[in-house]
Amino acid sequence: MRAVVASRPGGPEVLEVTRRAVPQPGAGEALVRVVAAGVNRADLMQRAGTYPGTAADPILGLEVSGVVVATGADVPDDLIGREVCALLPGGGYAEYVAVRATHLAPVPAPVSTVDAGGLMEAAATVWSNLFMPKPPEPGSWMLVHGGASGIGSLAVQLAVAYGVRVATTVGSPEKAVFAEKLGAQVVIDHRRQDFAEELLDRGIRPATVLDIIGADYLERNLKVLGRGGRLVIIGHQSGSSPQIDLTRLLLGNLTVTGSGLRMRPDHEKDQIIDDLVRNAWPLYERGAVVPTTHAAFPFERAAEAHLLLERSHHRGKVLLLADPDLPPTPDRYA
Ligand SMILES: NC(=O)c1ccc[n+]([C@@H]2O[C@H](COP(=O)([O-])OP(=O)(O)OC[C@H]3O[C@@H](n4cnc5c(N)ncnc54)[C@H](OP(=O)(O)O)[C@@H]3O)[C@@H](O)[C@H]2O)c1
Repeated sequence: MRAVVASRPGGPEVLEVTRRAVPQPGAGEALVRVVAAGVNRADLMQRAGTYPGTAADPILGLEVSGVVVATGADVPDDLIGREVCALLPGGGYAEYVAVRATHLAPVPAPVSTVDAGGLMEAAATVWSNLFMPKPPEPGSWMLVHGGASGIGSLAVQLAVAYGVRVATTVGSPEKAVFAEKLGAQVVIDHRRQDFAEELLDRGIRPATVLDIIGADYLERNLKVLGRGGRLVIIGHQSGSSPQIDLTRLLLGNLTVTGSGLRMRPDHEKDQIIDDLVRNAWPLYERGAVVPTTHAAFPFERAAEAHLLLERSHHRGKVLLLADPDLPPTPDRYA
């Protein structure tokens, strides 16, 4: 099969399409013929050799969509032929991938199989951090940093679908328009405005902050949170060793938490996916949440896909297509 690997640590140019043996599904696994694979920021770090810890699979890719073509022992063969999306520890940028069967989900009805390639990583991350064990209160405010990112574009929509009021940060006027279309009520251009000043001026004290920036935003995130608020840190693009004034936690009765989906044990991912399919998939089915595919590239153009994400010129999700004859997805959010 064709698969995309990083030939050595480096820039997007080190990505290459190689030939690998088709994996065989082991016990508890299903073999998926891949239609589309989501591109995530973690893939960029893995390619550059800066991903913390060891990445298990030299083939990149944390999520795919496709069709089940074979099953291993202990997996019912009536799965064969089903269209699925899958959460992976790696191996998604390939024509076939063997997946733990409990990490598969059906493609929600109105979502195309191509778009479904970008669902699982963001959905499982956002859902597990913000909606489990219980969703935020309707009417409360949530601050989502990077509202035009793969993660942020879903967090905004899910929060809005639950009646939560969303403020978000973005880095350009085009991204501001995109975030507004997704339902954000307050959109702050972080290149021109200070998000904490903007929120405090408007009297907005979020109950929840979803952060992907880390060190540079910690103090301001704690400053804006309302009493009893919760800061959820899932990324630290600006650094991971900030100074923190613990007084703020005590005065505000605040909670700071975070998690890394990829390193969570399989049984936790089983629970997340089960909860996601029961509670979030109906939102896709009734159109309250829509996929945000910005662009899709064939495997041979994986470097362009990585460059797009690296330069942050995208809005929503970027995909790779296993079949080079599939037409690229139009930029429907331009
Ligand atoms: N912990 C987990 O389990 C987990 C899982 C998945 C992803 N993540 C993390 O979540 C983040 C988003 O991932 P992704 O795959 O969705 O990547 P992505 O689409 O490339 O998003 C990165 C976003 O960061 C935004 N950004 C950069 N500097 C910013 C700033 N100063 N203020 C606000 N936003 C800023 C960019 O927006 P602008 O260009 O508009 O500035 C861009 O939209 C990454 O940090 C990733 O590592 C964590």
